[in-house]
Amino acid sequence: MAQILDGLKVSKEIKEEIRIEVEKIVQNHRRPPHLVAILVGKNGASMTYVNNKIKDCHEVGFRSSLLEFPSTVSEAELLEKIDELNKSKEVDGFIVQLPLPPQIDQEKIIMAIDPRKDVDGFHPENFGKMALEMDTFLPATPFGILTLLERYQIDTKGKHCVIIGRSRIVGKPMSILMGRKDFPGNSTVTLTHSYTPHIEQYTLKADIVITALGDPNFLKANMIKDGAVIVDVGITRVEDDSKKGYRLVGDVDFESCNDKASWITPVPGGVGPMTRAMLMKNTLLAYKTSVY
Ligand code: GUN
Repeated sequence: MAQILDGLKVSKEIKEEIRIEVEKIVQNHRRPPHLVAILVGKNGASMTYVNNKIKDCHEVGFRSSLLEFPSTVSEAELLEKIDELNKSKEVDGFIVQLPLPPQIDQEKIIMAIDPRKDVDGFHPENFGKMALEMDTFLPATPFGILTLLERYQIDTKGKHCVIIGRSRIVGKPMSILMGRKDFPGNSTVTLTHSYTPHIEQYTLKADIVITALGDPNFLKANMIKDGAVIVDVGITRVEDDSKKGYRLVGDVDFESCNDKASWITPVPGGVGPMTRAMLMKNTLLAYKTSVY
């Protein structure tokens, strides 16, 4: 049986470390960090994510604001709000929850965010800094995975890391970060995606597999090698008879992979809570490095 990379436990430790730091800030008569979240429309998953982020702010002692817009909002209106947040001395960081409705150009929105307040690490300036190994905000999910690997002292140096999925939020930045000259990093990285034939050719040779494709139970035991480290970023809502009406299912067939892997992240309770904790960490960093 594999050992569990317990993201829930580690995320609680990190949030507690942040809470203690914020307590000290407030005791010194300074205002707490302030995170703003923009939510457009009523996408169920997005609403859950944003509400959880607001809850996390409350837990660590941050101020938070939720700005909700209807799905019919214009691009101009959103850009105006972003301009206002960029200029506000009361706001340390903000996020625009993705995906956005089709009438909105996502890239234009991301480009409009002041990189110093881009706590998602999505702005091209921050993405570029990340790639060049300069200090910046790292995107929360890859940052969460790195932190989880770090806290469990998983050896990544010289290892072969296979990533499945090349999204701007997870796969692409993850592929860069695992190859950086830091710990955890220094891996040899293979980035696979929807046009990669026979993905198992790669995953069978991987010391570390990171899946971020949103295909429930995709990765089976016969696709991994003995002792591999398995990190599951997938969280797909699958309908069931429960009160919620759905359950969360990862990309990894946990039952079978659990017998073969050395370390594995559960879903839920693995990468998800780490992502949330890292947004808090980035917001605290934005506060500390703020020009105000
Ligand atoms: N949609 C899915 N994940 C994320 C995230 O980390 N940040 C934002 N802004 N939107 C998302």
